[in-house]
Amino acid sequence: MPLAFITGGARGLGLRIAQEAAARGYEVAIFDMAAPEAPVDPSWRCLTGDVTDPESVTRALEALGAAPDLVVNNAGIVRFATLLETSPEDFARTIAINLSGAYTVARLAAPGMLERGSGHIVNITSTGGIATSPGTNAYAGAKRGLAAMTELMAQEWGPMGLRINAVAPGMIDGGMSSGIYMNEAARARRAGAVPSRRLGREEDVAHAVMWLDSAEASYVNGHELVVDGGLTKATMSMIPRD
Ligand SMILES: NC(=O)c1ccc[n+]([C@@H]2O[C@H](COP(=O)([O-])OP(=O)(O)OC[C@H]3O[C@@H](n4cnc5c(N)ncnc54)[C@H](O)[C@@H]3O)[C@@H](O)[C@H]2O)c1
Repeated sequence: MPLAFITGGARGLGLRIAQEAAARGYEVAIFDMAAPEAPVDPSWRCLTGDVTDPESVTRALEALGAAPDLVVNNAGIVRFATLLETSPEDFARTIAINLSGAYTVARLAAPGMLERGSGHIVNITSTGGIATSPGTNAYAGAKRGLAAMTELMAQEWGPMGLRINAVAPGMIDGGMSSGIYMNEAARARRAGAVPSRRLGREEDVAHAVMWLDSAEASYVNGHELVVDGGLTKATMSMIPRD
């Protein structure tokens, strides 16, 4: 039974990814600062910790008893404020969790996976790191940095049997964006801008992660898979021709 270790798995996209992994026969361990938001199967290991605290990550990985087959670096935060309004503390915390935290988890999980000669790390980035938008301060840079780190990890660890990929969700009706989509007008406006004419669902992201981890994607390495209904590349479609 493959073992999946999912950070930020207590709610939102992480919880949905964990549920999808469990449904596909993975043994699931979630790692989060918070307790699961919904009841989870008693077989899951719910490990408490903070991705910015290497000691808690080490403790959690040791508690697994074996190197994970799949690590999903999903824990993340966004703190909306312009560059002038954001505080240095919020800026630093956003980088610490989204970028450095993902590095810490990968750095501590990789040796066991490298020793075994197999394993897969999926970093959850964001289309917010590809097409930046005002008010997201350090989030865009952290996610673009995580995409770059995904490529670097594939180059350094690929030769020893690991795959490292990223999934970049677009406008997802769930997780940290739930509040935005409680407004019906905002929902309709945003869904209308997407070539697929709908918002993303948490399962769209979970399915992409599971496909990347499948044998069908065995030659995909260092890739950032955009799951956005076509939005990020649709800039020109929003500008009238005349
Ligand atoms: N929801 C979206 O619209 C969307 C879009 C693009 C990308 N993403 C990315 O998807 C990932 C999941 O986001 P979500 O929407 O489910 O968010 P969420 O806020 O619903 O859940 C994030 C989870 O991460 C945990 N977490 C936060 N900081 C942590 C830390 N330091 N250590 C351990 N756990 C921590 C939280 O406790 C929470 O359970 C994030 O990386 C986010 O940037 C989300």
